[in-house]
Amino acid sequence: MFFKSKAKTEIDYERLPVHIGVIMDGNGRWAKKRGLPRSAGHSAGADTLKKIVTECNQMGIKYITVYAFSTENWKRPKEEVDFLMNLLLGYLRDAERSLAGENVVIRAIGSRKELSEEIQRQIIKTEEFTKNNTGIIMNIALNYGAREELLSAVRHIAGRVQAGEITPEEIDSGMLAGALYTGGQPDPDLIIRTSGEERLSNFMLWQAAYSELWFTKKLWPDFNKNDLYAAIIAYQNRGRRYGGI
Ligand code: FPP
Repeated sequence: MFFKSKAKTEIDYERLPVHIGVIMDGNGRWAKKRGLPRSAGHSAGADTLKKIVTECNQMGIKYITVYAFSTENWKRPKEEVDFLMNLLLGYLRDAERSLAGENVVIRAIGSRKELSEEIQRQIIKTEEFTKNNTGIIMNIALNYGAREELLSAVRHIAGRVQAGEITPEEIDSGMLAGALYTGGQPDPDLIIRTSGEERLSNFMLWQAAYSELWFTKKLWPDFNKNDLYAAIIAYQNRGRRYGGI
C-alpha cells in the first residue's frame, strides 16, 4: 500500500507522456500458468486494458495506442483468431456503454478490409458514437502492422504524385506521417511492452523513432496501475535529446 501511494505521488503531472503505446503481451503464458485455455488469458487481458485506459484517462494522458491484433496474428489457430475477433467485437460494443461514458474517444487503426463486415460495421458505429468525446483518444490497433501502414501511406502519396497533385520533391516527413493511420496525432512518447519480450514487433515503427521504451516481465493480465505509474516515472527520469546533446 505504501508503494502504491508513493509511486503515484512521484509522478510529475506537468510532464506526463502525451501519448502512450502499449504492446499487451503475455496473455497466453498467463493462462498456461493457471492451467487455463489461452482464451482465458485474452479475456483477462481485455479486463486489464479497460482498467488501464480508465486510469490513463483519469490521469490526463491524451492518447493511448494498444496493439490488439497484428497483421501476423492471423497465423494463430482459427479457434484463437475467432475468439480474439469475438472479444474485440464485444469490447467495442461494451465500450459504447462503459468507456464512452468516461468520455473516451475510440478509434481503430489498421487495415479494415480483412476484418469481418460485422466488426467493420461495429468499428464505424463505436467511432461515430465516441467521436465528440473530449477525453483520452484510444487507438485500438486491429489488423495492424507498421510495415503495412507505411506501404499504404507510400501508395497513397505515390497516387498523388501520379495524379500530378504533388512532385516527389514535395514529399517530406510531415506528409508521410500525415498519411499514416495516426495522421494528425503526436508520436508516442512512451511505449510499454509486457511479458519480458524486448522488441517492437512491427508496432508504430515510424512513430516510435524517439519513443522511450519501457519493458516489464509482468504478463499483460497482471499489469496494474502501479506498473503504469512505474513506467511513467521511469519515462520522466530519462533525458530525451532527440539526437541533440
Ligand atoms: C499477446 O499475448 C496478446 C495478443 C495477441 C492480443 C492482445 C489482446 C488483448 C489484450 C485482449 C483483447 C483486446 C481488446 C481490445 C479486446 P499472447 O497471446 O501473444 O501471449 P503469449 O506470448 O504469452 O502467448
